[in-house]
Amino acid sequence: MLLPASVLIGLLCLSRAAGVWGFARLLDDVELRSAFSVARTNSMEGGPKMTVTFDAVYVNIGGDFDPKAGVFRCRIPGAYYFSFTVGKFPHKDLSVMLMKNRNEVQAIVYEENAGEERKVQSQSVMLQLEFGDTVWLRLHGDPRYALYSNTGHYTTFNGYLIYPEVYDYQAHHQHRPAYSSRQRQQDGVSVSNGDQAAATPGPRGAADEKEPQRGEEEEAEAEDDGDEEEEEEDDQRSAFSVGRTQSIVGVDQVGLPQHQPVSFDTAFVNIGEDFNMTEGVFACRVPGVYYFSFNVGKLPQKTLSVKLMKNRLEVQAMIYDDSQGEKALQSQSLMLSLKPGDTVWLYSHQRDGFGAYSNHAKYITFTGFLVYPDSTTSTTITSSSSSSQSYADKKP
Ligand SMILES: *[C@@H]1O[C@H](CO)[C@@H](O)[C@H](O)[C@H]1NC(C)=O
Repeated sequence: MLLPASVLIGLLCLSRAAGVWGFARLLDDVELRSAFSVARTNSMEGGPKMTVTFDAVYVNIGGDFDPKAGVFRCRIPGAYYFSFTVGKFPHKDLSVMLMKNRNEVQAIVYEENAGEERKVQSQSVMLQLEFGDTVWLRLHGDPRYALYSNTGHYTTFNGYLIYPEVYDYQAHHQHRPAYSSRQRQQDGVSVSNGDQAAATPGPRGAADEKEPQRGEEEEAEAEDDGDEEEEEEDDQRSAFSVGRTQSIVGVDQVGLPQHQPVSFDTAFVNIGEDFNMTEGVFACRVPGVYYFSFNVGKLPQKTLSVKLMKNRLEVQAMIYDDSQGEKALQSQSLMLSLKPGDTVWLYSHQRDGFGAYSNHAKYITFTGFLVYPDSTTSTTITSSSSSSQSYADKKP
């Protein structure tokens, strides 16, 4: 029997999509896509029009970024990752803010206008956005300030959707309502509130409380391991982005723990609540591959030395050893493969002469999110290889 080619291709695609859940996610992914990456090919001086606009578009999936207006407008609610790099103009100061609606979220400032030099600085953060929220870059309105770019595209701006909100609703409606309680708890603790968090049993405890109820309704039909997989899929999201509004100044002191994590006081995003702000520690719940990035300001007259730690090991080091007066900003990023219980944290050298700069503009930020969970990958591979094999057998 001859089937139209499109049907065959469709069947093959289905088999690769690894089951109904995978296929549903695939459809979601197609619909729920939003990403932009833009650049500026000329410099810009501070003036009444403070929004940084862009004239080179590399990527604009979904068309959510308006390069002429310089504004990203959220169409799909969810958690987004943003990064930007701006150049410093010779003999000018640099001050660029990442804005969410009318609020300053994160800054790049470089005040050294005597300097002839050009340089670039970068920042990145994750933000939870509602429909219609705007995200844009604002240059300081005074002509003392300018940002530098030319055909070398020194000034760039990127953003993309990591977790659409819809995923939440699907998990909520199709499965048990574990997320809603967790989400509420998370919303209540947007700024560090150790006491309140300590009074409740914590995120794991909240999930455990659900167990008996769920067991009653679902036990009969879902006693096999399929239920476990589904349950895991509910929790396959993990992302945090946190900021610190205070500088860190190293002091020589006896009795302090040698390696204390940098703590944070502002949470932009904490999906899954895997990051403990008072401790300053991310604890892996969902095994897999994670992306981490961190930005740190340099204190004048201090050496900046910050390390990204995995458990007790240094995995990436940042150093700025110029003891001259300037402030500056450093950014780094990497990916790590994590197992449940692994911790990731930042360490700032705690001796005298070392330090890191921040203020309300949050020069110290730390972001991480799950890129590929381990368990889904293995389930996907198993089920897709078995089903695609059965189709492959039938191929001529
Ligand atoms: C964060 O860690 C502190 C200190 O270990 C602990 O008291 C607190 O309950 C933790 N917070 C959350 C939300 O788990």
